[in-house]
Amino acid sequence: MPRVIAVVNQKGGVGKTTTSVNLSAALAQAGRRVLLIDLDPQGNATMGSGIDKRTVARTVYHALLGLGELAGIRVRAEKGGYDLVPANRDLAGAEVELVELPARESRLKSALERVAADYDFIFIDCPPSLSLLTVNALTAAQRVLIPMQCEYYALEGLSDLVGTIKRVRANLNPSLEIAGLLRTMYDPRNTLSQQVSQQLEAHFGDKVYRTVVPRNVRLAEAPSYGVPAVLWDASSKGAQAYVTLGAEVLEREVAHT
Ligand SMILES: Nc1ncnc2c1ncn2[C@@H]1O[C@H](COP(=O)(O)OP(=O)(O)O)[C@@H](O)[C@H]1O
Ligand SMILES: [Mg+2]
Repeated sequence: MPRVIAVVNQKGGVGKTTTSVNLSAALAQAGRRVLLIDLDPQGNATMGSGIDKRTVARTVYHALLGLGELAGIRVRAEKGGYDLVPANRDLAGAEVELVELPARESRLKSALERVAADYDFIFIDCPPSLSLLTVNALTAAQRVLIPMQCEYYALEGLSDLVGTIKRVRANLNPSLEIAGLLRTMYDPRNTLSQQVSQQLEAHFGDKVYRTVVPRNVRLAEAPSYGVPAVLWDASSKGAQAYVTLGAEVLEREVAHT
């Protein structure tokens, strides 16, 4: 059975999509069978994987609403070497429609069960909210990866997220655990970044990934070419960080089984 990892933070712009895309590509490069699920109506993980969100016939929306099977919805992200379940604006309406449906929190989990055997790792790129979509991701996942920027309000947002994880664990998914906290867009010259980073380590100990992702322009450029940065410029600092993170994730997830 695959490791299902939800990439979650209710804040936007903290690096969830960049992490989802590059970690998927890094693990695919390491020979693992990877599925990336775009669960954000913005469709950034879809575009960043080289798939045009405007032309895909069916998306994760159809799987959630029971209008199609993931096996027929997934597409190959050729450059990244992984499979992708795309998303686009269709998904923006899903929240309202899901509320009416039975088992509304576990629809992604059910859909995933039927393709799970094809993969070693499944990553879910979540929207910037603690909405029903994110609850679906947390119900389907075994582990949560939390990207965060080391800034003043980062820790405050974290307690809301940890609260949501606890509620999902209590009601829907008892085995859910935090895989790790990832420091993104890190600037070592910034004193506040250093302080927040140290606070994180003090509070969360070895739940904080050793790998730190630096602020790096290559990571920001790659999506406009539809290629994960780990392939776009493999020698860049940003790409190297995600390859190192891939190795750390593999090491941790294997140790955990
Ligand atoms: N380490 C980084 N260095 C520079 N830019 C980054 C980095 N990580 C992400 N970005 C850029 O910052 C913006 C937000 O990142 P993104 O991954 O889309 O965040 P989220 O999915 O959490 O909203 C994007 O434009 C992305 O290209
Ligand atoms: Mg995103």
